Amino acid sequence: MTAGEVITVTIRRGGEHGAPVPVDFRVPITGDPTVLDLVTAIQRDQAPDLGYRFSCRVGMCGSCAMLVQGRPRWTCRTRVSLVARRGRLDLAPLPGLPVVKDLAVDMAPFFEKWAAAGGGFRPCESGDAVLALVAPESPARRNADAAIECIGCGVCAAACRVAGAEPGYPGPAALNRVWTLVNDVRDADGPRRLAEVAGPGGLFTCHSQGACTACCPKGLDPSRSIAGLKRAAVLAALRGEP
Ligand code: SF4
Ligand code: SF4
Ligand code: FES
Repeated sequence: MTAGEVITVTIRRGGEHGAPVPVDFRVPITGDPTVLDLVTAIQRDQAPDLGYRFSCRVGMCGSCAMLVQGRPRWTCRTRVSLVARRGRLDLAPLPGLPVVKDLAVDMAPFFEKWAAAGGGFRPCESGDAVLALVAPESPARRNADAAIECIGCGVCAAACRVAGAEPGYPGPAALNRVWTLVNDVRDADGPRRLAEVAGPGGLFTCHSQGACTACCPKGLDPSRSIAGLKRAAVLAALRGEP
């Protein structure tokens, strides 16, 4: 799509009070807009009651994630010219989460999984202790650093069919976070976290095909993190740990 053309944007609209209905909007293209620019233009000019969510517009907050042409993406970092097909664009809310309204979903179940998997850091020293020196080149630090930049956007979870089919599965974002903490030598709960996610319905439910990694806009690799957790859980079992 180039400036001056008109694109048809189909938005799956609905909310907690009704089944979703696809609604078409015709939008003139100006400049090289992002998908979020188009949604904003639709709300401004055609549908003031359109529900959607964004904050930073620069790929920092993760709140603008939606299904774009069937694939989860940050809409503020997705150019229409790269994803539109034959003058059309299809938008829907992230799957697997309750729809608040139109394109805005309730992220609470996503973060509840994060918390249930043990995603909160617990220091192993008191606040008065001397600051720990953790060598940047150590394997544990490298593993923790590789996964730590997650901003909790939910894109990987939306791409994960296992998470969609198994409500009890923690999902790639929560497991990626657990891998960070299991490798964080300052954290006191590593073994307990590993035991909590290694049980039935947990990390061994992952089939390792990597849709999460393919979709992560931050370039993180939750699939690798989960593989690391699997190895750690097997080694812990061989050592006779719970
Ligand atoms: S791992 Fe990537 S896709 Fe998943 S929540 Fe974090 S930043 Fe988003
Ligand atoms: S690799 Fe595992 S967590 Fe990632 S999408 Fe596949 S099943 Fe889900
Ligand atoms: S609005 Fe913040 S990442 Fe898109």
